[in-house]
Amino acid sequence: MTACIVGWSHGKFGKLDGETSESLIVKAATEAIAHAGIEPRDVDVIYVGNMNGGFVRQEFHSSLALQAHPDLRFKPSTRVENACATGSAAIHMGLNTLAAGKARFVLVVGVEKMTELNSAAAGEVLIKASYVAEEANIEAGFAGIFGKITSAYFQRYGDKSDALAKIAVKAHKNGARNPYAHFQREFAYDFCRTPSHKNPFVAGPLKRTDCSPVTDGAAAVVLADVQTALGLKHAIAFRATEQVNDFLPMSKRDIVKFEGPALAWKRALASAKLDLLDLSFVETHDCFTSAELIEYEAMGLTAPGEGERAINEGWVERDGKLPINVSGGLKAKGHPVGATGVSMHVMAAMQLSGSAPAAMQLSTARIGGVFNMGGAAVANYVSILEPLR
Ligand code: COA
Repeated sequence: MTACIVGWSHGKFGKLDGETSESLIVKAATEAIAHAGIEPRDVDVIYVGNMNGGFVRQEFHSSLALQAHPDLRFKPSTRVENACATGSAAIHMGLNTLAAGKARFVLVVGVEKMTELNSAAAGEVLIKASYVAEEANIEAGFAGIFGKITSAYFQRYGDKSDALAKIAVKAHKNGARNPYAHFQREFAYDFCRTPSHKNPFVAGPLKRTDCSPVTDGAAAVVLADVQTALGLKHAIAFRATEQVNDFLPMSKRDIVKFEGPALAWKRALASAKLDLLDLSFVETHDCFTSAELIEYEAMGLTAPGEGERAINEGWVERDGKLPINVSGGLKAKGHPVGATGVSMHVMAAMQLSGSAPAAMQLSTARIGGVFNMGGAAVANYVSILEPLR
């Protein structure tokens, strides 16, 4: 155990007209510092997770965090990017900085303002996180990449559209309990299962309700070493962290296997000396419902090809043996790409400190897992978190 989350903040995710990435960063940073019970001058190092790539004209977001308070002026601040795992990448940079003894307090802000573009244009930005030389001409942006993965999965293991619809229903049921979520309403199984004008096919077998939405939002955490954290009000410790990168081209991998995520989970659980079912819950990267399905297999909940059992038998529901995405996940909470990894850690910290919104709080939340993924199982991050005391 090397470091802790000692403060956090999470704004409402959604289509946030009137907000800019700057205003979102400033609010998230201000609230996380206050929640940690420290002063802005105590922050030693800042990382801003932001993918951008054309969502907004403003690139170079690092120093925008300094605008949260005059005392942040002259603090070293760096923008971090690792596709949809940008938020976790920024947290890892913070953990490395603490481990190197270069800081007592690190502020990490994750932010994305995506909705200035329409969905098609946002898809054009997101597809840059594929292996452009071979994959960028696929239709429907990044959904096209997962449409291809889903088709390959169905070809190998049979049509799993029923399971995907159930995963969407679960996400929205949970999202309805999360006041920070983009979508806070339940979706009926028949609506998610049946293609319709309101739920058209987007890519391959994926319908609109199988996709995470295009979302604006920000979240932030303050990190500190364990010694420092012992003197603070909030202290959620990292029991293990792992990062595993795989080849970028899908042509170099068996794309339905998610070998990078599986290795990240295996290493993280071994390092934490835990079995998967020792975890009280997992927040996993459901950019598409089929990603969540395959992640059940990658984390070791089921054998390959049997992921549907986890949803069919209720294991991953709020009251199941391993609740997954009680926040609503990316599917219902939204997926502002640079913010997502930070958001997942904040959702876990809330659960583990017993301070989640009442309807979302689990009755038992002792150890939590987070899996955040950049690209199609390319940059894979697992964190295992537990209260320090
Ligand atoms: N799930 C459920 N409902 C959604 C939705 C989603 N993902 N996205 C939009 N909607 C709803 C909207 O709320 C709206 O509802 P309303 O008519 O009741 O107001 C309706 O669908 C139309 O919204 P719109 O934004 O016009 O939809 P769209 O067809 O342009 O976009 C997607 C839908 C799925 C194509 C878009 O959200 C998308 O591209 N998602 C994937 C993003 C992505 O690739 N992220 C990176 C992953 S690695």
